[in-house]
Amino acid sequence: MLLPVRLLRDRWPGWIERRLARFVWSDPSVITRPDVSPERFREAMSAIHVGGTIKITTADRHPEPDALLLDNLDTANLVIADVGASDGSTSLDLVRKLDGFAGFVISDLFLEISSARVGRRTVFYDPAGQAILMCGHRFIAWPVLSRLVRILVAPVLLRAATTAREPVTLLNPDVVELLAQDPRVATREHDVFTVWPDPKPDVIKVANLLRRLYFTDEQIARALRALHASLPEGGHLLVVDNSREPGMPPRGGLYRREPSGFSLVAETTNTPEIGGLVTALEVAEDAGHAPR
Ligand SMILES: C[S@@+](CC[C@H](N)C(=O)[O-])C[C@H]1O[C@@H](n2cnc3c(N)ncnc32)[C@H](O)[C@@H]1O
Repeated sequence: MLLPVRLLRDRWPGWIERRLARFVWSDPSVITRPDVSPERFREAMSAIHVGGTIKITTADRHPEPDALLLDNLDTANLVIADVGASDGSTSLDLVRKLDGFAGFVISDLFLEISSARVGRRTVFYDPAGQAILMCGHRFIAWPVLSRLVRILVAPVLLRAATTAREPVTLLNPDVVELLAQDPRVATREHDVFTVWPDPKPDVIKVANLLRRLYFTDEQIARALRALHASLPEGGHLLVVDNSREPGMPPRGGLYRREPSGFSLVAETTNTPEIGGLVTALEVAEDAGHAPR
């Protein structure tokens, strides 16, 4: 985003919104409302920039990659963790497709942020207290992405700094409902660069997180080492990406954890962006725990 500022939909004359359609966004501050619909909540995730990544997600985003899991593993007694699950919409998709499972953990480094209201404006903060998003009446702006924007919205940020903050869940309303209904489903804050504490899940899915868009190959390899150490011998890693290449369908790879790395079980027709990094990974057999 060259200038991280956008116009809010339905707040401008129609001809302006039509002319600048690319720059017109739905109001993401709806995530603070108890009556927000699952669709509007999901849509708002595209505006949440945290930890150098975006929480962007959509429903039914990984049909072919999820099929790799369903076609190759009997999941009835398995615990599955979805790491970097955003609002959990794609976890919910997978849960609905599974024949059976013993446990499902919806996991992300950012499951909750906070917000402060200043008049008609809402400022959102990441867990470190950094202002990540400002939603006004006509504009939204991302102070976290630009010094210029920070200067422009400084008066609002100053007022917000003295205002009480409310926690804001980043879990989709449909996921909150699933959590209330199914005791096998849980959430966990987890950083993909660290080792999952015991008990280890049997399968870890990582979709659209370990991307070259966000991380260098060295960082991705570090995360893969942590994932290797987070799985038991014979456990599985499912890697997914939704490429921006025109016409490219969702890509996925299912890999089995071996003592010294990962072996390929199955891939979609197109190898996922980091497929080569996964199969090339070499882990010292006594590595045990990956360094942060
Ligand atoms: C682009 S979204 C992908 C969401 C979902 N998996 C999908 O494919 O639709 C990336 C997610 O990774 C999360 N994330 C960023 N850094 C992370 C980290 N170090 N560990 C775990 N999750 C992280 C973000 O909060 C965000 O929800």
